[in-house]
Amino acid sequence: MNTSFNGEHIHNAISAVRDPDIGQTLGEIGAVHDVELSGDKVKIYLSLPQPLHFVAETLNKSCKDAVNAVAPQAQVEIFVREHVPEKPANRILPDVKNLIAVASGKGGVGKSTIAANLAAALAKKGASVGLIDADIHGPSVPTMFGLEGEQLVGEKTETGQFLGQPIEKHGVKVVSMGFVMERDQAAIMRGPMQAGYFNTFVEQIAWGELDYLLFDLPPGTGDIQLTMAQRVPLTGAVIVTTPQNLALADVRRGVAMFRRVNIEVLGVVENMSYYALPDGTRDYIFGQGGGTAIARELDAPFLGEVPLNISIRQGGDAGTPVVLNDKTPHQQQALLQLAERMVSEVRKKNFRSMQIPTVQISL
Ligand SMILES: Nc1ncnc2c1ncn2[C@@H]1O[C@H](COP(=O)(O)OP(=O)(O)OP(=O)(O)O)[C@@H](O)[C@H]1O
Ligand SMILES: [Mg+2]
Repeated sequence: MNTSFNGEHIHNAISAVRDPDIGQTLGEIGAVHDVELSGDKVKIYLSLPQPLHFVAETLNKSCKDAVNAVAPQAQVEIFVREHVPEKPANRILPDVKNLIAVASGKGGVGKSTIAANLAAALAKKGASVGLIDADIHGPSVPTMFGLEGEQLVGEKTETGQFLGQPIEKHGVKVVSMGFVMERDQAAIMRGPMQAGYFNTFVEQIAWGELDYLLFDLPPGTGDIQLTMAQRVPLTGAVIVTTPQNLALADVRRGVAMFRRVNIEVLGVVENMSYYALPDGTRDYIFGQGGGTAIARELDAPFLGEVPLNISIRQGGDAGTPVVLNDKTPHQQQALLQLAERMVSEVRKKNFRSMQIPTVQISL
């Protein structure tokens, strides 16, 4: 029987561990649910805001280290319950934990590239991920995932409704406008038809349970963006830009649109930030610091820089996002880090939504 430590020692030690995303201790955020002791065996039960894929390892280690600092002989097991904010009963996609739009004010800045790499990075980290390519005018996800020529297949449910199956590639469940139409058809589609397709993708696909569903949007602030804002309970939007002034003006417009419809901006990504020269220096072709400056101006987190690099373009064209390519570690790292920072913002947002106080009043 061990007498050198007790539940209080363990509780205090674990309560002092800092959550790397939230920036407060587990005690402060009320994450320590229970501590059980049985001889040298210690079981710790935590309740934490999801998603945990990027922080699980770090948290596990810092919790074990903290306990072992006060009880070196303790054999620690940590159990985590993910805290999912309560959802309205009639919410669409109730089994999807986090819905994230990848958007930009301007075309061609790399939304689809970033969306494809974020999705692949999250799947690589063990998350269940879906990706909706909602770009009617130029669906590029089929190319970026090597799914060109694929068709959306589905079946009639008992109620006679069509239920489509996403196509899985690189661990990501994908649905694209490119699976349902020829390229030339797209240009002639009117607003209501576009909204119809979008709603089908959201409501009539067997998405199942997902940690993330990402939306690759067309550029600008048109019909699809509005339909999405009205229909989908988004966790938030990631805004992609390039560093130069013209693109930044469009960022302001894009962010203003999302904020008008109460969608949180999870952060700004600066794509094509620089070109890495062979001597290790960086050539800031489109100017330096534009992304961080606009993020500061708009009071939005800056999620990171992605270099302009041929392997990123080639990965897109060849159907394997660069984040999965171990031969280009610098690019891979930049995109993994981007995913990690985005998830950190998602966790902060999920934590904040758990904090909304409920006040009891008498009428
Ligand atoms: N960091 C990068 N380095 C090299 N090439 C890139 C990079 N980011 C994007 N590209 C290339 O630039 C082109 C445009 O990118 P992408 O299609 O992702 O932009 P988009 O914002 O989705 O465009 P659209 O507005 O048409 O939807 C693609 O050929 C892509 O491979
Ligand atoms: Mg695109």
